[in-house]
Amino acid sequence: VETTGREFDDIAQEIERLAGLRCVAVPLASRSYSVWIGAGLEDIVERYIRSIAAGHVVMVVTDSNVEGVGGSDKVKQLQASGQRVVDVVLPAGEAHKTLASVERIWDAALAVGINRGDLVVGVGGGVVGDLAGFAAATLLRGVQLGHLPTTLLSMVDSSVGGKTGFDRPEGKNLIGAFYQPRFVICDLRWLSTLPKPELQSGLAEVVKAAWIAGPAQVEFLETQAENLLAGDEQALAQAVHMAVTLKAQVVAADERESGLRMLLNLGHTVGHAIEALQDFRGMRHGEAVALGMVASAQVGAKLGISSLQNAQRLQNLLQRLGLSTDVSPWLKEPRLFQFLAADKKRAAQMINYVVAGAPGSVETIPLPLEKLQKLLTT
Ligand SMILES: NC(=O)c1ccc[n+]([C@@H]2O[C@H](COP(=O)([O-])OP(=O)(O)OC[C@H]3O[C@@H](n4cnc5c(N)ncnc54)[C@H](O)[C@@H]3O)[C@@H](O)[C@H]2O)c1
Ligand SMILES: [Zn+2]
Repeated sequence: VETTGREFDDIAQEIERLAGLRCVAVPLASRSYSVWIGAGLEDIVERYIRSIAAGHVVMVVTDSNVEGVGGSDKVKQLQASGQRVVDVVLPAGEAHKTLASVERIWDAALAVGINRGDLVVGVGGGVVGDLAGFAAATLLRGVQLGHLPTTLLSMVDSSVGGKTGFDRPEGKNLIGAFYQPRFVICDLRWLSTLPKPELQSGLAEVVKAAWIAGPAQVEFLETQAENLLAGDEQALAQAVHMAVTLKAQVVAADERESGLRMLLNLGHTVGHAIEALQDFRGMRHGEAVALGMVASAQVGAKLGISSLQNAQRLQNLLQRLGLSTDVSPWLKEPRLFQFLAADKKRAAQMINYVVAGAPGSVETIPLPLEKLQKLLTT
């Protein structure tokens, strides 16, 4: 076969792109799926959707910000590939992670007479993913679901593992279901439009994953901190791959969070209370998790499980990624402990607190609330 120079360039580019493609399997028996990670994955998305939903309706759920940075192109691309596409554009932000948004998706799906073989695809951050996931879980008791995460946080955390749901005035994520997607495709190109603070918030969850995973993963982040912060695609691809690998292992071992999966709450007990103190409007989730991880490493040192050097190392890494680590003013806030006491992950009077030791030694320790309060405040 003779190829022209132009065709050759195209082929070379395709090979380069495919060589950079990574895949992580989430083994959950008949509900197993793959997470694809790479840059410029439009045709993989198209092929995937064609293979599982040819001739079916594809409902693309996105938000008003994502629509403007490529969400509407995604819809056009799928339409051009011959797929019947319905799109729902939700108002952006955590304030809209509500039943009203779920109803928007339900109603749009029912209006086109959705069938069991149809596919809901969430194209967006964790808010869109959780809403699209919940709608997919509940429509006709379950239609197919796919995730195209567009924030770092949703790539490394929310799109893998099957937790879906929405918020109520009483608290975040109080209504939901476990429902696994058929595929997750993390196209790093989305991250080029992501505001820096959102990237940093996602990096906090990447640090969390690395600290649970082990020393090599933490060292990788330490050597790549500046590149990650600058949005370097290669570094981000490796970071997403690392975090997704960890999450997939944990989820495969403990899908419904009865034990091991609790480790993923590292930084989240205190982080969540800090978010709640500010009515969930004060800072981004990852920013609060970074503060919570610092507290957790300090508790580790106080309990003698870990050392102050480890706590300092974690703090340094977070700071290099542009995250604030000054948790002490928050720990002086008495109301923080009311929110800790109300944590939905509490078992009886004990809090399952995740303590950060050295990289790779993270453990869950049940502590009475008073003991935890003492460890955090003295
Ligand atoms: N299901 C789970 O296991 C799980 C895990 C962690 C977090 N979550 C949930 O995830 C949510 C947080 O996710 P998030 O941080 O992605 O928030 P988000 O979905 O609100 O996205 C953050 C902001 O970035 C915008 N955005 C998204 N992609 C963009 C892009 N490519 N370019 C420019 N702007 C873009 C969004 O419109 C939004 O304004 C929370 O509701 C949390 O409860 C769920
Ligand atoms: Zn989190």
